[in-house]
Amino acid sequence: MIEKSVEAKGICKRYKSFLGTGTTVLNNISLDIDVGEIFGLLGPNGSGKTTLISIFSTLIYPEQGSLSIMGLDARRDRGEIRKIINISTAKPNFPWSLTVRENLRHYGMLYGLYGSGLSRTVEDQIDAFELGDFRDLKFEDLSTGIKQRLSLAKSMLNHPRLLFLDEPTTGLDPDISIKIRALIRRIHEEENVAVVLSTHYMPEAEMLCDRIAFLRKGEVVALDTPQNLKNHLGLGERVVITYSGQADIGALGRLPGVLGLKSEIGRVEMVIDRSEDSVDRIVKLFQEAKILDINIKEPDLEDVFIELAR
Ligand SMILES: Nc1ncnc2c1ncn2[C@@H]1O[C@H](COP(=O)(O)OP(=O)(O)OP(=O)(O)O)[C@@H](O)[C@H]1O
Ligand SMILES: [Mg+2]
Repeated sequence: MIEKSVEAKGICKRYKSFLGTGTTVLNNISLDIDVGEIFGLLGPNGSGKTTLISIFSTLIYPEQGSLSIMGLDARRDRGEIRKIINISTAKPNFPWSLTVRENLRHYGMLYGLYGSGLSRTVEDQIDAFELGDFRDLKFEDLSTGIKQRLSLAKSMLNHPRLLFLDEPTTGLDPDISIKIRALIRRIHEEENVAVVLSTHYMPEAEMLCDRIAFLRKGEVVALDTPQNLKNHLGLGERVVITYSGQADIGALGRLPGVLGLKSEIGRVEMVIDRSEDSVDRIVKLFQEAKILDINIKEPDLEDVFIELAR
C-alpha cells in the first residue's frame, strides 16, 4: 500500500543562461505528500510552482535531489510513473481543429485505449465533466471554462492515481471556478486520486487543500494545514471600530494584546491578539463614545500569503 504520492528530498533546479552562471529556481526542496490529501502549492509569481509541478510530473529533471512518485523512482521508473499520473495546466492547448470528443479520443489513444474501451472511457469523461453539450464543438470555438473542463476530462482518461493541476481556475469566472473546484473535490473523493495543485487564489487553497506549501524564491518557507498556517504566524485578528464622540486612541495603542493600530476620525483599525482578552479592554476605552459598528475579522490565507511573500 503506497502512502506517499510524492517524496522529495533536496530538489534543486537551475536554469542555465546563455551568459553567466544561470539562476537557481528551486533550492533544496524537501517535502512528502500523502496519497489521501489535496496538497496546495502557493507562492508569488516566479516562485517555482510550475517548475516543481513539472519536476513532480517527470517533465523535467532536477539537477540534485531524490524524488519518488507513488513509490516509484522519478528517474529510473519514469515510464511507469507516467502511466499513473496526469496533469492539467492553466492554459490548456489542444489540437485546435478537433472537437471535444475527437480530442478526448485522440488522447485516449495516446494512453493506449482503443475500441469499445476507448469509446466508453471518453463518454464517461464527457458525462463526468458535463461536456455533452459541447462534444461536437472544435477546441478553437470553446470558452476558457470549457477548455479547462476538457483539460480536466483529458487528465482523467488514464484513471490516474495522482493528478497535478497547475492553476486549474486561473482566468475563469467565479461560477465556473466553483464548478471546477467541486469537480476536483469529487474526483479526489470518488476516484481516490491524489491531487497536487498550484493556485494564486487563496480561498481556493483554503477550500480544497489539506496542506499547503508556500514557495518563495524557490524555497519552501512554510508547510502546514491552512488553519495552522493562520494560527502559527501570529497574524492576529483585525478589529475595525467605527464610532462617534471621543475615544482615547493613545491608550488603545498601549493596551496589551493590541499589536498594531491605525486611526482616523471616527474609525480605528487594530490587529489584536485575542488570547490577551483584548476585545473587552478595547470596548471599555469607548465608554465616552458611541460605537456605531464593530467588525472582527480572522486572518485569512491572503494575510498569510502577504506576510510570507514579504
Ligand atoms: N525554461 C525556463 N528557462 C529559464 N528560466 C525559467 C524557465 N522556466 C521558468 N523559468 C524561471 O524560473 C522561475 C520560476 O518559474 P515558475 O514558472 O516555476 O514560477 P511560478 O511560481 O509557476 O510562477 P507563476 O505564479 O507566474 O506561474 C522564474 O523566475 C522563471 O522565469
Ligand atoms: Mg506557474
